[in-house]
Amino acid sequence: MPSALIIGASRGIGLGLTQELRSRGWDVVATHRSAAPALAATGARLAQVDIDDGETVAALARSLAGESFDHVLINAGIIGDRADTASNVSREALAQLFWTNAIAPVRTARLLLPLVKDGGSIGFMTSILGSVAGRQSGWAELYSASKAALNSLTRGFAVQDVGNRPVAILNLHPGWVKTDMGGDGADIDVATSVKGLADVIAAARPPGQRYLDYTGATIPW
Ligand SMILES: NC(=O)c1ccc[n+]([C@@H]2O[C@H](COP(=O)([O-])OP(=O)(O)OC[C@H]3O[C@@H](n4cnc5c(N)ncnc54)[C@H](OP(=O)(O)O)[C@@H]3O)[C@@H](O)[C@H]2O)c1
Repeated sequence: MPSALIIGASRGIGLGLTQELRSRGWDVVATHRSAAPALAATGARLAQVDIDDGETVAALARSLAGESFDHVLINAGIIGDRADTASNVSREALAQLFWTNAIAPVRTARLLLPLVKDGGSIGFMTSILGSVAGRQSGWAELYSASKAALNSLTRGFAVQDVGNRPVAILNLHPGWVKTDMGGDGADIDVATSVKGLADVIAAARPPGQRYLDYTGATIPW
């Protein structure tokens, strides 16, 4: 059975994906920042990680030394204050948003890439809102910009860090999902999103980088 390491799985899509992969019989290591009783019930192996704190990621990598995974997914992310725009956001709030959504995932990926098996994948939970080419509204401009920054950083990661290694790089959009972040008015429930994401991840084959939604459809960069 395949194995996966999921970063940021206490609730929402990360928790749902852990439940889905466990139900398919996968061996999963899942991380949480805060207490996560529902995650413990999945039977995944658990570890505590705050991606904003690189030392916790380094400690995870050390604790998993000697293991390798078919798929590593960095799912953790934040929405920030929905009322913030480029015109009114504080430097501190903007720094937090970009740190958690763009900088920390790439730092995390650099620390965890050695744990990915040849033939496997490393994934980033971005958003369709991070598509520069596809952007047709000003909605959630700072969150969108943070995911665009993540996409840009992962393009460099693919070239500089993954290079010629046979590892696929996935930039994933989960759909607009009913979670704490997505809200009750979102398009799809967690179960629909994570079934699709699990299929996309399971089918990922190197080489190359792809920007895909939960149905496997390609998104323009
Ligand atoms: N929901 C949507 O419609 C949607 C659409 C597009 C993209 N996304 C992306 O999908 C991912 C998951 O979203 P969601 O809807 O499941 O959000 P959510 O319900 O708000 O859950 C966010 C998850 O990220 C974790 N997290 C946040 N900051 C972290 C940090 N510094 N270190 C470790 N974990 C951290 C949270 O942990 P705690 O419980 O400790 O806070 C939680 O497990 C995010 O990257 C989000 O941007 C979501």
